[in-house]
Amino acid sequence: MTSLTSVVLPLLRHQLSRPLPASTRRFSSAMALNGKIKPAARVAGRRQDVWSIINEAAAASPVQPIVNMGQGFFGYNPPDFILNAAKDALNRVECNQYSPTRGRPRLLKAIADAYSPFWGRKIDPNTEVTITTGANEGMLSAFMAFIEPGDEVIVFEPFFDQYISNIEMPGGKIVYVPMHPPASGATETSSAGEWTVNFEELEKAITPKTKMIVINTPHNPIGKVFRKDELEKIADLCVKNQIIILSDEVYDRLYYVPFTRIATLSPEVAKLTITVGSAGKNFYATGWRVGWLLGPAELIQYVSAAHTRICYSSVSPLQEACAVGFEQAEKEGFWDASIADMKAKMNRFNQIWKELDLPYSEPEGGYFVMVNLNKVQLPEDYPFPPHVADRPRDFKLAWFLIQEVGVAAIPPTEFYTDDNAKIVEDYLRFAVCKPDEVLETAKERLRGLKKYIKH
Ligand SMILES: Cc1ncc(COP(=O)(O)O)c(C=O)c1O
Repeated sequence: MTSLTSVVLPLLRHQLSRPLPASTRRFSSAMALNGKIKPAARVAGRRQDVWSIINEAAAASPVQPIVNMGQGFFGYNPPDFILNAAKDALNRVECNQYSPTRGRPRLLKAIADAYSPFWGRKIDPNTEVTITTGANEGMLSAFMAFIEPGDEVIVFEPFFDQYISNIEMPGGKIVYVPMHPPASGATETSSAGEWTVNFEELEKAITPKTKMIVINTPHNPIGKVFRKDELEKIADLCVKNQIIILSDEVYDRLYYVPFTRIATLSPEVAKLTITVGSAGKNFYATGWRVGWLLGPAELIQYVSAAHTRICYSSVSPLQEACAVGFEQAEKEGFWDASIADMKAKMNRFNQIWKELDLPYSEPEGGYFVMVNLNKVQLPEDYPFPPHVADRPRDFKLAWFLIQEVGVAAIPPTEFYTDDNAKIVEDYLRFAVCKPDEVLETAKERLRGLKKYIKH
């Protein structure tokens, strides 16, 4: 019998393999509306995002199945002690009902207990922590809580793309400050720590309207862990100008060099800092959508209020499972294993760049690696579809890799403004949070790039 997928998939692939007309690169349902029924400007007319371009390219590739090292989701399950906790929670009546809007008391306590040692004092689970639907909704809640139309928020480039629409929703204006790759990035492998912030540029970006700054450490996509002295410089500026620091630390359990949390620098800095966490990232369960924010009660109360308006409360049984995760991780040796496993994956995968003599930024944390493909020569007459031909070189590199070798990676110019996109147009970002066999298949396929590399 012919299966549905064997019929539908080739059709879908055929559809996707045709170049998209420019008009379909915007939301088609929005285009169909007219007159009084129009989408709000905040959701209409956005450029096709990188995820859909890459997923489309992957579906259209002649090499199937694609090795997807694009999006940062894990290719394996959380450990059993956490999975079993989720299954147990589903059998409990109270775990299948609404949680308190600020989060389940057991998870609030587990996070407060897990983070108190880093803060060097007892964190109050009732006032200083709030649970959100993933870190992403947590950050949206933080912006909704403090940003009025016209307020400015400083964001470093490259940025996690969701920050942008989250800041724009309440009417915030984003002020970008680029991070700079090492000067020898096209020829030599060096530490991700060598991507730098120009502190004069940062200081110049601050105005009386600057309300918040977003930092991300360990950093996606660079893999940089901000050094203590760098965080001190940022913190000093924030204290001097009374700017709220939103410190996105979703990769806080994956660091390969010493890791400093900005909130722990001094009581003055702590007063201004909201730290963002993601149980999804911590426990290899990005689809569970459990995140959390930690900060002074005076700030957290307003973030909780915004979160209540956005989604009321977050998924109950999975909060319970994450509570067990935080309670037991230390004694299960999970945090140490998590670092050792991810570092081993990094080393395993990055071997291929040594073999191909392509330079990369050796990550100090997280699970992304930025590789410089300046030496890869794209054939001049290569048939890129118009929506890729329009974009910077990294989109062409990503398309080419998908079509020719069957490996998907993310073009990082998507995480820069158009003005600064040039800085990373030779780079691609690969996510290594995949099973070892997948990493080995990716390496085998990437050997197919050899013939395009000029030395
Ligand atoms: C830097 C950064 N912040 C936040 C998030 C979102 O985390 P969550 O899945 O918990 O919403 C991600 C996910 O990729 C990320 O890379």
